[in-house]
Amino acid sequence: MANTILIGAQWGDEGKGKIIDVLTEQADVVVRTQGGNNAGHTVFIGARKYVLHLVPSGVLRRRKVCVIGNGVVVDPIGLVGEIDGLRKLGVKVDDNLFISETAHLVFPYHRELDSQREILKGKNKIGTTKRGIGPAYGDKAARTGLRMIDLINPPRFESLLRQKIRENNEILKAFGATPLSFKEVHSDYRAAGDRLKPFVANTVVLLHNAMRQRKDILFEGAQGTFLDIDHGTYPFVTSSNTTAGGACTGSGVPPHRMDRVVGVMKAYTTRVGEGPLPTESAEIADMLHAMGREFGATTGRPRRCGWFDAVATRHATMVNGIDELAVTNVDGLDSLATIKVCVAYRIGTARYDYVPNDVEAMARCQPVYVEFPGWRTPTNKVRRWKDLPSKTRAYLKAIAELTGARLAIASVGPAREQTIFL
Ligand code: GDP
Ligand code: IMO
Ligand code: MG
Repeated sequence: MANTILIGAQWGDEGKGKIIDVLTEQADVVVRTQGGNNAGHTVFIGARKYVLHLVPSGVLRRRKVCVIGNGVVVDPIGLVGEIDGLRKLGVKVDDNLFISETAHLVFPYHRELDSQREILKGKNKIGTTKRGIGPAYGDKAARTGLRMIDLINPPRFESLLRQKIRENNEILKAFGATPLSFKEVHSDYRAAGDRLKPFVANTVVLLHNAMRQRKDILFEGAQGTFLDIDHGTYPFVTSSNTTAGGACTGSGVPPHRMDRVVGVMKAYTTRVGEGPLPTESAEIADMLHAMGREFGATTGRPRRCGWFDAVATRHATMVNGIDELAVTNVDGLDSLATIKVCVAYRIGTARYDYVPNDVEAMARCQPVYVEFPGWRTPTNKVRRWKDLPSKTRAYLKAIAELTGARLAIASVGPAREQTIFL
């Protein structure tokens, strides 16, 4: 299998967790390289549901090494809670998890600033997960952030945190928010630091040693292409590079060591949070929500839903270099008589076959649809490609062709076994 980057080709929640879990069987090491606990990756094993936020989804399989890379922003309290939660469910988390020394930390003032900035933006809010992700990456870029290596060095941590709390309390006061107690934050974070210390490592050296031993590495993307800080629908994006390049910068594994890029996409489109979504449709949203589907794994918010947007996924193939596609939630379309696919955008009389950079133009884009006949048959029990209804196969082949990459996996349910390999 060699080294594989797996990314979301849409707006996040494409089913990356499920596909990572399936592909982990063939991998030795699974690495998160960007984002933080804004991510929510769902994996079902039997009837048991796991939602991973910071810990790579590979942790659910025995004998796999999991790495939280340098590009991730870590909320230490959240991570300790996640590890404890996994252990309670019987998942082993000890010498199989490594956290980069240089991963930046998320603090309560980041979360509070995230919330306050959203309030200030009013109707122009981003609709963030309020996990402090933007302010934490902001500190990293401003070179004022604290890292894992600081957290596990008590004297250094104390003096750096004191300074940060003092500075951020002034900002919080200006917002009219309640200032933080240094003492409380310090004791909570030091306790978390002691819990996390055994996991902290030089993960760049670790990954290169693994490659020298010819181990296969799977890079678990978080969020999706159109939430990328550079390539997404800015400013309605997250604060990291969610596209394939982020796997290199966020891990220290160079581009020429990457062997393939797998793009995960739903057979339709969803987005949680604000920002343009050209194919948004009440019809498909009502249908999916009535089935109890498409509620956020991190915040529980109902996801916005729409038809498959091939303009967007074609763009995703371009910026990520997607080789193979995994299409999930095929079963979500089982009951429809007609399925629409967006093949271009229109603004007035102008036709676009690419995603416009101007977010206001993007918001004005009207989808140009082609229609496919629905198969109106349950697909969730199908295990082989040739057993799928011919209309399902035609639909999947068409969206893969429009996206411009090879269809490799079709997923017909959340469970491991509901996976069809081509
Ligand atoms: P991620 O963030 O990309 O890992 O995706 P999420 O876990 O946030 O959301 C994807 C949702 O779809 C989860 O509830 C998964 O269990 C579910 N899922 C993934 N693939 C399939 C599928 O093929 N069919 C169905 N019915 N659900 C799926
Ligand atoms: P996974 O990995 C879907 C969205 C938020 C918001 C925007 C910015 O599960 O696919 P942030 O808290 O990152 O500053 O929010 O990005 N967002 C996600 N949407 N899936 C995610 O992760 C997301 N992580 C962030 O809803 O619109
Ligand atoms: Mg998710």
